Amino acid sequence: MRLAFRPRDYNRGLKLALIGYGNVGRALARLLRQKRREFPFTVTGIHTLRHGTAIHPAGLPLQPAFGPRAASIEEFLEQTRADVAVELTTLNPVDGEPAISHIRAAFACGMHVATANKGPVAHAFADLCEEAARAGVGFRFESAVMDGAPVFNLWRHCLPAVRVLGFTGSLNSTSKVVIETMEQGGSFEDGMARARALGITEADGAFDVEGWDSAAKTAALANVLMDARTTPQKVSTRGITRLTPERVQAMARRGKTVRLISRGRRNGAAVSLRVRAEVLDRSDILASAPGTSNVILFHTDLMGTFGTVSIEPGVEQTAYGVFSDLVAFRTGSAS
Ligand SMILES: NC(=O)c1ccc[n+]([C@@H]2O[C@H](COP(=O)([O-])OP(=O)(O)OC[C@H]3O[C@@H](n4cnc5c(N)ncnc54)[C@H](OP(=O)(O)O)[C@@H]3O)[C@@H](O)[C@H]2O)c1
Repeated sequence: MRLAFRPRDYNRGLKLALIGYGNVGRALARLLRQKRREFPFTVTGIHTLRHGTAIHPAGLPLQPAFGPRAASIEEFLEQTRADVAVELTTLNPVDGEPAISHIRAAFACGMHVATANKGPVAHAFADLCEEAARAGVGFRFESAVMDGAPVFNLWRHCLPAVRVLGFTGSLNSTSKVVIETMEQGGSFEDGMARARALGITEADGAFDVEGWDSAAKTAALANVLMDARTTPQKVSTRGITRLTPERVQAMARRGKTVRLISRGRRNGAAVSLRVRAEVLDRSDILASAPGTSNVILFHTDLMGTFGTVSIEPGVEQTAYGVFSDLVAFRTGSAS
């Protein structure tokens, strides 16, 4: 039997308040516009750090005219009268702020929250889930770890009774671009410049190569899938900053490469977490996906080892992950 897609099942429009309107926020706005007939979301407010705030109850255009910045996040959220706050501000891997406060303010206003920001999931996942439940709203973060490729929704919907024993991932695109650039004869700085030009680095690119981005993703995965109640600081982390073109090229001549690998493993009641630059065979599944691709493998009790691969994801895929969270709020399947 063929199941027909019926747009009218999704006919409840939701109003959105975007906090942050950078690469991901703008890509999301474009996607919402592209899909507006089947999924009529309305962006009633956008709040930024330096560009100011824009609010319109009937909906904002892609290039809104920003006015003065709202005095507080609470004032902004109240003025938008939105159903969902979409948190897309810059990652702060040290303590997850101010994103965590933004999310709490949204819950206090009775709004669902979707975010692509891994900071809150890495630092305060359990508390935020409890607060969302108390407020009777949903909290979603599909894009926080794999740029929109299904990770958390996969576990939410497809794997009843399966227990995560551990995970292994190559999750940081910037470090891969830097390593590949050095293998091709460029310098570390050339690699960083290439990654920046691709728009894939964190606002502070040091977070990528020093391992903070991977540590935050590792903590987020462990918090959500293994109830680890951890933070990035508790992940044993070493980045790729000590790699040189000479070392990388010598390894390449032996058929080897380096990837910044995140590992999580249950040890009895504890969970051990680490991020390391690991030497891998070029044919290793964690090393063979091209360019900015990400790979995660889950080690489980009932499903053995399986994974998700995202080939050369871009900001459009990150926006799609957020969009999938918003659709879950529309259909009422997220709270
Ligand atoms: N880019 C990706 O491919 C990707 C993939 C997965 C996850 N993410 C995550 O998604 C989030 C957004 O990434 P992005 O690439 O869109 O970042 P971005 O281009 O640097 O944009 C960040 C936005 O947040 C705003 N902002 C920063 N601090 C703020 C504050 N305190 N209050 C209000 N607004 C604030 C900035 O305002 P101004 O415009 O005024 O500076 C800007 O609009 C990050 O947490 C990132 O880790 C990104």
